[in-house]
Amino acid sequence: MNQVDYLRISLIDRCNFRCQYCMPEGAELDYILKQQLLTDKELLTLIEEVFIPVGFTRFRLTGGEPLLRPRVVELVKAIASLPQTQDLSMTTNGFLLAPMAQNLYDAGLRRVNISLDSLDPDTFDQIINNRGRPRWEQVWQGIHAAYRVGFDPLKLNVVVIPDVNDDEVLDLAALTIDKQWHVRFIEFMPIGNSQLFGDRSWIPSEELRQRIRQRWGLTESQVRGNGPADVFQIPGAKGTLGFISQMSECFCDRCNRMRLSADGWLRPCLLNETNQIDLKTALRTGISTAKLREQVRDLLAIKPDINFKQRYSGTETGVYTRTMSQIGG
Ligand code: GTP
Ligand code: 5AD
Ligand code: SF4
Repeated sequence: MNQVDYLRISLIDRCNFRCQYCMPEGAELDYILKQQLLTDKELLTLIEEVFIPVGFTRFRLTGGEPLLRPRVVELVKAIASLPQTQDLSMTTNGFLLAPMAQNLYDAGLRRVNISLDSLDPDTFDQIINNRGRPRWEQVWQGIHAAYRVGFDPLKLNVVVIPDVNDDEVLDLAALTIDKQWHVRFIEFMPIGNSQLFGDRSWIPSEELRQRIRQRWGLTESQVRGNGPADVFQIPGAKGTLGFISQMSECFCDRCNRMRLSADGWLRPCLLNETNQIDLKTALRTGISTAKLREQVRDLLAIKPDINFKQRYSGTETGVYTRTMSQIGG
């Protein structure tokens, strides 16, 4: 069985984008109130006294948009400087990244995954539901800043949406030829109140691989990351192509992670809303961290969780009460 040693920590449920597949408009009505967010101190207590002792050594900071969290650089520094932290990464939309990239790197962040669903500024604005000033360029600058600063690996996440950005798959894949960038195509997951529910909302990864194979050929890479992606490469390319295929294949048996929400709920799986534990309330009511370690060990015992498809297909659309922006992607 896989060792579960990777914690995805949502720092905030707010986001400065409104991606169609993640955070529908109106989601701000349900934002977590400030006093309900885990404080920096509570989060660090949980990491040091609960998660590290039960075996977690790798941490990914997510959101919403994690760069909106006040004092995020200081938080990165505090987590990175714990001797047991072996890997510290972040998933961001990249919009605020350019001016922060160097500081984050200096604070100890080493890996970033940045969402880039389109190379076309208009399509990009459509996907993120932006009606204000165009935003693609600033994200592109963020990606380049991260590359210059030395984040390695640098991963770009593309949620593939039929008839919106699937015609860009070859152009996005081509980014890996000259640069050591890792582009990952993600099958859209119909979770939360997404606007994209429906039979044709996702494209199987194998269909995308066929298109890429026909154009350049495709080899399976020996290097599997520590995550859900199947990794391939265009022959001779500097970077790789990842495929995250939770709808067409099931990778739950190799799952190595749990998720902590910004308000302190720990869930053993993206979709598991029944076995969550409320670590924040436990901390605030004075329950000992020794007791919390026991509770987390109990959750670890039910990993790997039942498979994504079983869980999804047994459920009506929209029953999952939390959106991806609240779960942390
Ligand atoms: P690394 O492999 O550590 O770089 O991270 P990652 O690929 O897991 O992280 P990222 O935040 O970039 O997530 C990319 C996509 O994978 C997102 O759409 C996630 O929701 C999805 N994903 C990550 N973990 C899981 C998981 O446990 N189950 C499912 N179904 N999807 C996941
Ligand atoms: N399906 C698949 N991926 C999603 N993400 C957000 N919502 C969804 C969804 N419904 C991705 C984002 C980001 C990561 C954290 O999760 O694109 O890359
Ligand atoms: Fe924000 Fe990321 Fe969700 Fe888009 S996918 S709305 S950038 S949290």
